[in-house]
This record gives sequence, C-alpha cells and structure tokens, in this order.
Amino acid sequence: MQTFNPFRLSRRSFLQYAACALTLSAASALSPASALAAAGENRVLILYFSRSGNTRALAEHIHSRVGGDMVELKPAVPYPADYDSVVDMAKKEQEADARPKLGTEIPDLDRYDTVFLGFPNWWGTMPMLFFTLLEEHPLGQKTVVPFCTHGGSRFGRSIQDLRRLCPEARLLEGFEIRGTRSGGAQADVDAWLRSIGLLPA
Ligand SMILES: Cc1cc2nc3c(=O)[nH]c(=O)nc-3n(C[C@H](O)[C@H](O)[C@H](O)COP(=O)(O)O)c2cc1C
Repeated sequence: MQTFNPFRLSRRSFLQYAACALTLSAASALSPASALAAAGENRVLILYFSRSGNTRALAEHIHSRVGGDMVELKPAVPYPADYDSVVDMAKKEQEADARPKLGTEIPDLDRYDTVFLGFPNWWGTMPMLFFTLLEEHPLGQKTVVPFCTHGGSRFGRSIQDLRRLCPEARLLEGFEIRGTRSGGAQADVDAWLRSIGLLPA
C-alpha cells in the first residue's frame, strides 16, 4: 500500500493539502455540532413539542450536541393554559382520533437525513399533533430518533405508533426520562447519543 508522503507533492498540491489540514484541525477544535456543520455534513432536524418546557430542555441540549436545525411544533389553535383543561382536551383529541392543524411551518424535509422527534407522553402516546405531522410530512426512509418526557409511563405506545406512521424509516433507540428530571439529564442524553452513534465516543 502506498503511504502518504507530503515531500513528494508538487508545491501546489502541498499548499492545497496544508489548507485542508488547517481547516480540519480548526473544525475538530469546535464542538461536535459545529465540526459537523463545518464539514458540510449536518443534515439533522430536531422537531419537538413541549407544553411546559420539559421536552424543550432535552431538545435544546440535543441541539447543542448534534447541531442541525431545531423547530418547535405548535398547534394552529393553542392548547389551553390551564392544566386540567389541556388534559381534558388531549383526551378528547385522542378519543376522536383527531388531527389538530399544525401552526408551524415545516421546513423542506429533503434537506435532512436524520429527524429527531421530541414529545411529552400524552395519554400513553405522542400528542395527536405528531399524527398530523407524520401523515402530512412523511419521513420515508430517514433516520428517526424519538425522545420523550413523561410522568411515569415512559414511551407508552408511542414507539408502536411511530413504527406505524413511519413504516420505512430507520427508527433508532429513543431516550425517555421523567419530565421532572429533564433539566439535569445532560450526561444521560450524551451517553444515549454516543450509544446510537450520533456523538463521537
Ligand atoms: C395532556 C397530558 C397528558 C399526559 N399524559 C401522560 C401519560 O399518559 N403518562 C405519563 O407518564 N405522563 C403524562 N403526562 C405528563 C407529561 O408527559 C409530562 O409532564 C411531560 O414531561 C410534559 O412535557 P412538556 O413539559 O415538554 O410539555 C401528561 C401531561 C399532559 C399535559
């Protein structure tokens, strides 16, 4: 096998090589996220919904580690602020198998290979907003990475629902945590991202 010998390069090739090496070493000094972006490879989208901030805390940490674009999903008609009212409304939406209208513009999904989906467990699965999202914007064969906050029921039925809604996707192992612990979950999130190959070991 021929080994690389910089002394055998022409002056022009050597200068090109040196410029490239400088760029790469500058990129590796950055965070993993900006290193990915600098290499022009970042095709990650983080889509999340959060009513009271727990899932948002995870989304923001994931974003700080893997970079890419992050979009907060909102319903066209905002959910009530009062907890009991939103609990009732979410139950009714689920019983009616409703598809609440999205109030967020979804970016062109062709720009992404990997889509994180972050949601709170609502009545045992994703809020119905995600059913609207995934039917209106199919994820095809993309890599899909779920993360969820909850009050004790973990992912509930959401992974089965995701498999049904994204039948061709490469669904990676997700991350779930109680909502009350989401603010201090950075180390656990990093370990999970490493275990699924989305952060360098
Ligand atoms: C409408 C509604 C339904 C919920 N249903 C469940 C449930 O079935 N199981 C569960 O463990 N937690 C349930 N929770 C608790 C939330 O999943 C939990 O508080 C979550 O961390 C909230 O995330 P957020 O702050 O990002 O909105 C529910 C909360 C709401 C508002």
